[in-house]
Amino acid sequence: MFERLEGAGALVSVNFDGEEVRLAEGENLAAGLLAAGIGVFRRTPLSGAPRAPYCMMGACFECLVEVDGVSVQACMVTVRPGLVVRRAGFRAEAGHAKL
Ligand code: FES
Repeated sequence: MFERLEGAGALVSVNFDGEEVRLAEGENLAAGLLAAGIGVFRRTPLSGAPRAPYCMMGACFECLVEVDGVSVQACMVTVRPGLVVRRAGFRAEAGHAKL
């Protein structure tokens, strides 16, 4: 559904929920994850409904993830080598399927 524009930076390794994904250095993290086929960034606290980036400009918080242990909006982060990214709000004890 999404693909990178030509001229993107060199691909670097980023850890996303324990798995390596290759993203272009310097690109927007939310855009890079979408281009890598990742469509669920977090789950809502009450129902566990999956959420994904919406505004891509820091207003909606739908892209909330943890980067290096800190909650941030993925659309406000630039990809750099070695980032450790986790989905926010995943509740394994509630039986949510990992997407
Ligand atoms: S997509 Fe809306 S804040 Fe990131």
